[in-house]
Amino acid sequence: MYRVLLSATLILCSFTLNAADAAAGAAGYALCASCHGAQGEGVAAMNGPKLAGQEQWYLKSQLTAFKSGPRGTAAGDALGAQMRGMAATLVDDAAVDNVIAHILSLPQVSSPVTVQGDAVKGQALFAICATCHGAKGEGNMAMNGPRLTGQNDWYLVNQLQGFKKGLRGAAAGDALGMQMRGMAMTLADDQAVLDVVSYINSLQ
Ligand code: HEC
Ligand code: HEC
Repeated sequence: MYRVLLSATLILCSFTLNAADAAAGAAGYALCASCHGAQGEGVAAMNGPKLAGQEQWYLKSQLTAFKSGPRGTAAGDALGAQMRGMAATLVDDAAVDNVIAHILSLPQVSSPVTVQGDAVKGQALFAICATCHGAKGEGNMAMNGPRLTGQNDWYLVNQLQGFKKGLRGAAAGDALGMQMRGMAMTLADDQAVLDVVSYINSLQ
């Protein structure tokens, strides 16, 4: 009985300790807003992608990857390196969790369409992507595939080209990025990238 009580108390304590503080996160987010938008909608002029609507586990994995590698470490990855510096302002795990709690409170809105491609051809190309990103591009945590639907189309293009060129997913120890790199290679040329992204646009 005492043991049960004790462990219940311990669990309660750890919940309190781990509870992310969205209000503290809002303060930490002030800096992020300049490149990701006040509502996390993305800022094309700053190359900052949309964050609103992205899932907790992916925000955490990417912020951790920016803080302590491998993301943003490849030679020539200027934008990733810039974001590494920003992630470093989140001093510890609690600061990361707090800023994520704030991002999760932002409204999910659809992104403007800026990419023109052939969505019908893109649909065929997307068949393989669905395995890890979901049939509607909604994301699949079990496969570590982030949500793609609703993301800024120019960012999807940037990232797919980055994977192809080895700016992302080529660093030592980046097993998930490497996996995605192999998938980006299935997109034979620039047109195929535009086509698959046009199809992803049609899913939002
Ligand atoms: C100076 C501009 C700038 C600031 C400020 C900034 N970021 Fe970024 N962020 C970027 C860019 C550019 C990228 C895309 C990097 C790339 O191309 O790989 C990015 C990527 C990200 C990603 C990955 C998103 C994805 O879907 O891949 C997350 C998460 C993120 N930023 C969160 C934050 C948070 C949280 C803050 C504030 C602590 C912040 N950023 C501040 C420019 C910025
Ligand atoms: C075997 C699983 C798998 C398949 C299949 C796959 N991906 Fe991915 N994809 C991933 C993983 C895992 C990541 C995250 C990598 C990381 O953690 O850096 C990712 C990341 C991405 C990103 C970056 C998103 C962001 O916000 O950072 C894009 C864009 C993307 N995938 C598009 C595609 C497209 C298009 C296809 C089909 C041609 C595809 N993926 C097929 C696993 C997969």
